Amino acid sequence: GSSGSSFVAGLEGVVAAETRISGVDGDAGALTLAGYPVEEISGRASFEEMVYLLWHDELPNTEELAAFRGALAGRRGLPAATLELLRAAGARNVPQMDALRMAAGTLGLDAPDDPALDLVARLPVIVATYHRLLNGQEPVVPDPDLGHAANYLYMLDGERPGEDSVRALETYLNTVSDHGMNASTFAARVIVATRSDLVSAIVGAIGALKGPLHGGAPGPALDVVFEIGEAGNAEPVLREKLRRGERLMGFGHRIYRVRDPRADVLAEAAEKLFATDGDRDLYALALEVEKTALRLLEEHRPGRNLQTNVEFYTALLLHGLGLPTDLFTPTFAIGRVAGWTAHCLEQRSEDRLIRPQSEYVGATDRTWLPAQER
Ligand code: SDX
Repeated sequence: GSSGSSFVAGLEGVVAAETRISGVDGDAGALTLAGYPVEEISGRASFEEMVYLLWHDELPNTEELAAFRGALAGRRGLPAATLELLRAAGARNVPQMDALRMAAGTLGLDAPDDPALDLVARLPVIVATYHRLLNGQEPVVPDPDLGHAANYLYMLDGERPGEDSVRALETYLNTVSDHGMNASTFAARVIVATRSDLVSAIVGAIGALKGPLHGGAPGPALDVVFEIGEAGNAEPVLREKLRRGERLMGFGHRIYRVRDPRADVLAEAAEKLFATDGDRDLYALALEVEKTALRLLEEHRPGRNLQTNVEFYTALLLHGLGLPTDLFTPTFAIGRVAGWTAHCLEQRSEDRLIRPQSEYVGATDRTWLPAQER
């Protein structure tokens, strides 16, 4: 507008919070998770350690970790109302993310004493239970002896997962556990800043994450690799998508002007999985698709530095773990709920309503006309 207002489309460049939870340097391509570079911590910490770190700003010692693992494992049972809702949703083939949003909303019903713990503990249980129901199978009973990530894999297919799979999943969950003021985290902070409850904030965040510009990208990113099928098709298929004005899923980022550091962390983890699982052709094809996409994006928006983002290798890693594409975004939520809840607690201690302004650009000084005269 001409009024000298400071409106910025998409709030680009606007700093909306101070946080100690994670820091993103978009020019250097660096991500810090509570002080630890993502490369330092993601492949080493258990997910329980990661959640504890984001909440308390310190890693737990042995006793604290055992107590925290136990507390999470003890909360895996779903309330009857949640199960009932998932069965009804399954009968109607409700998509995974919608079912997750609805089911997460029921977690406030039994008045939990610690909603953050409940949400972290139960999101994977909801997703795995719903996955079973959608596929006409009975849910698997959670195993309190398994860690958080292992139990999720176990509840998906009833098989106790191998160490490599658990490590790969934990690396993934840790890597995506938080990422500055991304859209879903911002949504959660806005909700909790009205002094609304944590369950409401996480339900809002799940809704924001679902969109294809945010957490909805990895499924479609892998679909493109499948659609391409062989290396020679990469260029024509991707060129045609760009010509039609489509966005290439898994590329570009609001903050990064260089390669997303998480892409490398996940690429390394994915490569290990594919080395043992024999799906090497797909991995090689994906690398070809990435190379071609980067070349075409540089032609498409010269100088914009559109780079690979976290979602491209998320797709490969989760596929390598045997997860179907409809579980990719829900699994993102299972990792990101660590950051969402940490941000809610941080926002609460700040206790300041988030309420920006808008610039009015509509008509002025209209006079009322009765309906029959319009
Ligand atoms: C996540 O914010 C976070 O931190 C998010 C996240 C997290 O951890 O929480 O990192 C997770 O959401 C990753 C992003 C997943 N989304 C996708 O992969 C979808 C495809 N990418 C885009 O649609 C896009 O790059 C965004 C949404 C990610 C970023 O949007 P911006 O910041 O609005 O894009 P931009 O300003 O960099 O775009 C500049 C130009 C535009 O063209 P013009 O308007 O100038 O003509 O580049 C174009 C864009 O249309 N462009 C693309 C493109 N990304 C940007 N063109 C084709 N394919 C793409 N992927």
